[in-house]
Amino acid sequence: MSIFKRKKPEYTDISQIQLPEHIGIIMDGNGRWAKKRGLPRSAGHTAGAQTFRKIARYCSNIGIKVLTVYAFSTENWRRPEDEINALMKLFKDYLEESIRDFKDDSIVLKFIGDRSVFSDDLLELMTENEEESKNRDGMVLNIAMNYGGRAELVTAMRGIAGDVRDGKLSAEAIDEQLISDYLYTKGQPDPDLIIRPSGEYRTSNFLLWQSAYSEYVIMDVLWPDFKEEHLNKALIEYANRNRRFGGV
Ligand code: IPE
Ligand code: IPE
Ligand code: MG
Repeated sequence: MSIFKRKKPEYTDISQIQLPEHIGIIMDGNGRWAKKRGLPRSAGHTAGAQTFRKIARYCSNIGIKVLTVYAFSTENWRRPEDEINALMKLFKDYLEESIRDFKDDSIVLKFIGDRSVFSDDLLELMTENEEESKNRDGMVLNIAMNYGGRAELVTAMRGIAGDVRDGKLSAEAIDEQLISDYLYTKGQPDPDLIIRPSGEYRTSNFLLWQSAYSEYVIMDVLWPDFKEEHLNKALIEYANRNRRFGGV
């Protein structure tokens, strides 16, 4: 029990709670999971990719509107080449599987991040997945690939500056809403809840602008070991928080 007085009843079950509209997940801990088992880091990523499939499905089934998963950051290019290749292969496998096997799915797939660096075959699969799924009516699944919150803001600022220069926009029209509209997540609600497994207390450049008032839940579990029960636990923790948005 918390020593702080709670204004709300303490929730214990997800059937009692109001779900967040948008959940972000920093899928972290694959490398440590593999190391613990004496396996190469790539084995951790393979296991993590399975967890991603399971948790995305679960979020869609319980009625989450938007799920954003952090799959590869703008800083992850600093890793050894063989690890990067293994990750790119896993993305490709997933995108091919999704085109082939998820025809009747309700999930809308989107990719956020700078995609200009990806190989042609990966790029084609990304576009194909977005096109195939865009008219569906289920959960929006944003996969953050080569995503960085700072890079996203740089792109947005360049876009805004270009539009001001071309006379499409006046400098006075720049406000918070307009900046949001130049981000990859344009039109989507901000994340209510961001979950970071693996116990690290940092954002690692994830959704910097959008997470101004997100509730962070840090969990001491490595991503490949993350189960539906962990998501439920995070949802309950979220529901028991008092979101004040600067008010009282
Ligand atoms: C997250 O797991 C996956 C990516 C960043 C691509 P890590 O690979 O960062 O795993 P740890 O943090 O080293 O355990
Ligand atoms: C964040 O994890 C990026 C992803 C999960 C894709 P990292 O493992 O890259 O973050 P740091 O290096 O621990 O901050
Ligand atoms: Mg990590």
